[in-house]
Amino acid sequence: MKRLAWLVATAMLLLLVALSAAQEAKQVGSFSVKANAEALVRKLQAEGKDAFLKQVVVKGKVFYRVYVRPGPKEPPVAKPEAPPEPAPPPQEVKEAEPEPAPAPPAAKEAPPAPKEAAPAVAIPDSECTMCHQPLTQGKVVHTALQMGCQACHTGVDASQLPHKFSGASKGLSAEPPQLCFGCHQQKDFSASTVHAPVNLGMCTSCHNPHSSAEAKLLVSAMPELCYQCHDQGGFQKKVVHAPVATGACTDCHAPHARNNPKLLLRRGPLLCRKCHPRVEKRPHAVVGFRGRGHPLRGKKDPLREGKPFECLSCHLPHASDWARLFRYKAESSFDLCLHCHQM
Ligand code: HEC
Ligand code: HEC
Ligand code: HEC
Ligand code: HEC
Ligand code: HEC
Ligand code: HEC
Ligand code: HEC
Ligand code: HEC
Ligand code: HEC
Repeated sequence: MKRLAWLVATAMLLLLVALSAAQEAKQVGSFSVKANAEALVRKLQAEGKDAFLKQVVVKGKVFYRVYVRPGPKEPPVAKPEAPPEPAPPPQEVKEAEPEPAPAPPAAKEAPPAPKEAAPAVAIPDSECTMCHQPLTQGKVVHTALQMGCQACHTGVDASQLPHKFSGASKGLSAEPPQLCFGCHQQKDFSASTVHAPVNLGMCTSCHNPHSSAEAKLLVSAMPELCYQCHDQGGFQKKVVHAPVATGACTDCHAPHARNNPKLLLRRGPLLCRKCHPRVEKRPHAVVGFRGRGHPLRGKKDPLREGKPFECLSCHLPHASDWARLFRYKAESSFDLCLHCHQM
């Protein structure tokens, strides 16, 4: 019963809104570039809407506004679930017809509507994408977009152009990373080692918040993404480690945070063992008298002070000018031995 009363009230309100709206055309957009406005008009007309364009001067700037006359075939769609939003107050801009002279003080932006308690967004998401389509057209689309632009842009009044924004920049409910932590677990981004740009909240230096041609919404392909901030030189030597060459940096490094130094996924030989499981099972580097290879752990690195002896004592992880990714200048394996042994 309550529901029926609610529906009736809603319908009456919508009727009132429709009646008052019938008086004048509804503004659906405003552009500083005429071609954009014309494109929108053509698009709306193709949808069978009675759209037209009007040139106005606001604060001395020329804008091209797009209006739609409410046609009889277009009753407002009633959405009983959502409480009806009061129609936006009609724009009271004194519209000077195109005149080159600086606009007189009369040609001022309308004063802000008296009460601004209701959310300012006056047009639905489908209309946002009418003008901002490329944002949503990447191969990979952020699932958040399914929740609507307003999942993040709570403070965009797009009924005019330039839009009016409230809240954080670009009408966002918060700046990244807090914005992102609204849906993504903050604890996944904290550990004993946190990547500097993550620590600084620069999520959008690596991710496009809307859509992207790259997996995981990355702003560019791997490893170019990393080379935006890390000198490529260290990764481009005569011998390049296969996973580095293929841009698989995240096979060894976490992009955000990790409880290991250098954001490494695993510590010491465990990192290498993942892809080179046999190295430690057979004699390595040298076949000793008792068929044993070179010690690979449990010693101190004689050349890297304070570090344990491990794979990285003899090999570099990314690239090297020497065969087998040798850490030190070595034309042959024997040359390498001489850095630590006198033979
Ligand atoms: C009629 C076309 C049109 C519609 C509809 C529209 N926008 Fe825009 N929007 C633009 C244009 C053009 C700009 C760039 C204006 C400028 O730079 O001043 C813009 C700018 C923006 C910006 C800020 C860009 C920046 O770099 O600061 C955001 C955020 C935005 N729009 C969000 C939205 C959202 C959300 C909606 C839907 C509620 C929407 N827009 C609807 C045309 C439109
Ligand atoms: C997951 C949150 C989120 C959602 C959902 C979202 N945006 Fe954004 N949007 C952002 C962030 C963050 C920025 C700022 C990006 C930056 O500064 O690099 C932004 C920036 C923009 C800009 C400025 C231009 C640009 O690319 O930086 C426009 C326009 C925009 N958004 C429109 C939209 C529209 C239209 C929708 C709905 C289709 C939408 N956004 C949905 C988070 C979001
Ligand atoms: C309104 C909720 C919401 C907000 C805010 C949000 N996200 Fe998301 N995001 C999601 C959902 C839902 C998924 C899909 C999760 C899944 O598939 O497990 C997702 C997935 C992702 C993915 C993985 C995409 C893929 O293709 O695997 C990335 C990267 C991402 N978000 C980054 C961000 C960043 C950066 C921000 C802040 C600018 C942000 N998100 C803000 C809801 C949100
Ligand atoms: C230095 C670049 C970089 C920064 C900064 C960054 N990310 Fe990522 N992010 C990545 C990469 C690379 C991946 C893909 C990891 C993979 O494929 O294993 C990723 C994956 C993700 C995913 C998908 C889930 C997953 O683990 O695969 C989400 C969600 C995400 N990032 C959110 C964020 C948020 C939120 C921030 C800011 C707090 C942020 N990222 C900052 C590079 C970055
Ligand atoms: C937006 C810039 C930026 C991007 C993009 C970026 N990094 Fe970084 N990264 C940094 C900064 C800044 C540091 C800290 C540098 C320093 O301390 O010398 C850092 C440090 C690191 C470290 C060392 C961490 C430590 O605690 O010692 C690793 C590993 C790393 N980045 C890997 C990557 C990988 C892999 C990528 C690509 C997925 C990447 N970075 C993309 C800015 C970036
Ligand atoms: C095979 C595993 C592996 C791969 C793949 C890998 N790294 Fe590393 N990376 C390491 C190790 C191990 C260290 C630590 C080196 C040390 O402590 O001497 C390191 C250190 C770093 C550092 C810290 C600065 C330095 O040189 O010590 C950065 C930055 C970095 N890597 C970026 C990258 C980028 C970018 C990629 C992809 C192009 C990448 N790494 C691929 C294993 C790897
Ligand atoms: C993600 C997988 C992966 C990880 C992790 C990895 N490697 Fe490799 N590595 C490869 C591949 C693939 C090759 C090329 C094929 C081969 O020779 O087995 C290679 C080759 C090598 C070579 C021979 C290079 C040459 O040109 O002869 C050395 C030395 C090496 N890796 C050392 C290491 C060390 C040390 C670690 C640990 C820091 C490590 N790798 C971690 C995948 C990996
Ligand atoms: C004492 C120095 C030294 C240490 C420590 C060392 N290596 Fe090597 N590594 C060598 C030498 C020398 C060669 C070249 C052997 C050859 O060409 O006959 C080699 C070759 C390799 C190769 C390419 C040939 C092959 O055997 O597949 C890989 C992969 C490799 N090492 C991985 C590792 C890993 C993983 C570790 C740590 C578990 C490690 N190395 C520790 C000296 C070392
Ligand atoms: C980065 C330094 C380093 C390089 C390079 C190196 N070694 Fe070693 N080597 C060590 C250390 C450390 C030990 C362990 C010494 C100890 O037990 O105190 C060792 C031990 C040995 C032993 C004794 C093994 C045993 O079981 O007691 C031999 C033999 C040996 N190395 C040969 C070589 C040969 C041959 C090469 C070149 C292929 C080589 N080493 C390269 C550091 C190195």
